[in-house]
Amino acid sequence: MIQESRILNKDYEAAVPEKMKWYLHDRVGMFIHWGLYSLLGHGEWAMSRERISKEEYRQYFDNFNPQDYDPKKWAAMAKNAGIKYAIMTSKHHEGFCLFDSQYTDFKSTNTAFGRDAIREFLDAFREAGIKVGIYYSIIDWHHPDYPEYGDMYAPMRDNEEYREREKEKNFDRYLEYMHAQVKELCTNYGKIDILWFDYAYDNMRGEKWQATKLVRMVKHYQPHIILNNRLEVSGNGFGSIVTANPNEYSGDFVTPEQVIPPDGIRNVWNEPVPWEACVTTNNHWGYCNKDYNFKSPELIIRKLVECTSKGGNMLINVGPDKDGIIPEKSAAIFNELGAWLRTNGESIYGCGYAGIEKPEYGRITKSCSGNVYYYHIFEPVIGPVVLSGLPKDKIETIELLINGRKLTLASSWVVNNYKNMGFVTLGDNEEYTYTLPDTRDTVIKVVLRN
Ligand code: GLC
Repeated sequence: MIQESRILNKDYEAAVPEKMKWYLHDRVGMFIHWGLYSLLGHGEWAMSRERISKEEYRQYFDNFNPQDYDPKKWAAMAKNAGIKYAIMTSKHHEGFCLFDSQYTDFKSTNTAFGRDAIREFLDAFREAGIKVGIYYSIIDWHHPDYPEYGDMYAPMRDNEEYREREKEKNFDRYLEYMHAQVKELCTNYGKIDILWFDYAYDNMRGEKWQATKLVRMVKHYQPHIILNNRLEVSGNGFGSIVTANPNEYSGDFVTPEQVIPPDGIRNVWNEPVPWEACVTTNNHWGYCNKDYNFKSPELIIRKLVECTSKGGNMLINVGPDKDGIIPEKSAAIFNELGAWLRTNGESIYGCGYAGIEKPEYGRITKSCSGNVYYYHIFEPVIGPVVLSGLPKDKIETIELLINGRKLTLASSWVVNNYKNMGFVTLGDNEEYTYTLPDTRDTVIKVVLRN
């Protein structure tokens, strides 16, 4: 029997653990995928897709020397974009560590670059007042004890020459290495706000990673930390967080990837569960020199509104190139997102699901702390704009966020048939306008009487 769903923010907020409140308030983060794959320039899966052996891949280690790496510039871009948290890859599936791990030589401090890129990232973003997260791949195509032949994704998965080597591998030795590195990240780099594991697949999930032991260790050193659900699943699957009995390693949020959940994400009792849609700005996480298929700033703005309207977060990715430069088109998206958020951020930060069906012209978000609703208009309407779902007689003030102009309820005869519905006219002097003040998303703020 599904318990009556408590879908209004006021109930939901009460159910959210204290440590999650900043995360659900802040709504928008930046994902940074950077590694040796950024030199190859075919995306972060190139080693697997192009069947590149460790020996052949070594050339990228030997040539890793991004002397222009300047995370302060990244942090300034993120700050200007209204980004509230940032997550950077410390080790991706390729196994190369962007931090000074004592457990491997395959790390940035052993290259000509010679620096701990993660430490510099954390320092720069903290200084900018942005919360920090670390992405850590539990998959490792470099470690000698990680499966290769017959694995679902390892670069040498179908190379017969590697079949025999599998017998020499000791996966427990890999787990010891992986757990030790996660401990390094949790003990040597100060307060970490989010740990973003990636990812479970095939039979490689849950206790195969000794997940309970791993999570207990992480929470011992970083008791407030927020974890994702990818010790159990990937973007495919929600994990035990939506079940009646979440595992200890279920994580704190679900990670839909390159998709926005049609109806948000809810547990078996139909209650909202924290989730974060991670999306690329083109079609690759890691730098890809042939991928010019960038999303428009308008699309990213509207998708952030959609995530917020469904009670979710959005993590927007950049894939800096071999020199640590963020692609121009990605930077342009963040720049325009920031301009829109400077005017309309109050309709995102601290907002969530309104409990009202989306209007035909756009989306609705609601402040999680009061009777304030935001009507997001993506396309012009004929006549006055309906403020659907709100009792007309409870509307206290109406304001156009873009310029603070106070609007009044439309009294025109054309809406007389809809007695209890509020309508507003956007144009000046009650004139209808068919060019929205902000064609990306024009936001109307509606405050209800208590
Ligand atoms: C997938 C990809 C990985 C990427 C992650 C980001 O797991 O395999 O390359 O880092 O998505 O969500």
